[in-house]
Amino acid sequence: MPDPKPQPRLEPRHLCASVELKERGTAVTFDVMEFGRSAQAFALRFDDVAVAYLNRCAHVPAEMDWQPGEFWDQDRRFIICSVHGALYEPANGRCLAGPCTGARLHPIQLKEEGGQVYWYPSERFQPPF
Ligand code: FES
Repeated sequence: MPDPKPQPRLEPRHLCASVELKERGTAVTFDVMEFGRSAQAFALRFDDVAVAYLNRCAHVPAEMDWQPGEFWDQDRRFIICSVHGALYEPANGRCLAGPCTGARLHPIQLKEEGGQVYWYPSERFQPPF
């Protein structure tokens, strides 16, 4: 009988304190395993809601921050890719302008509880350890 397939770990993982995600501030970056390969994700706060995405542009598979953890455009309204300037809606990760208009960032589910932020692993995204 073959070994059973390892089950993904789906319990929420601590990410940071809520106060570390300041409204339209610098993102908190974190490492994930995407289908078994290491990748980076980021979390930020927009209109008081914490959101997280894989740090990979929908145009070309490149990280998007123009400085570590800096994802906002000049007006701090959109997530901007530093490579070719695609603009993403922070609430849902949809590209609104640029070479990948209509495509989306890969979301990672977050929850805030008791002043802390947690991320949820999934079939796609697992903790690196
Ligand atoms: S790699 Fe992001 S817009 Fe081209």
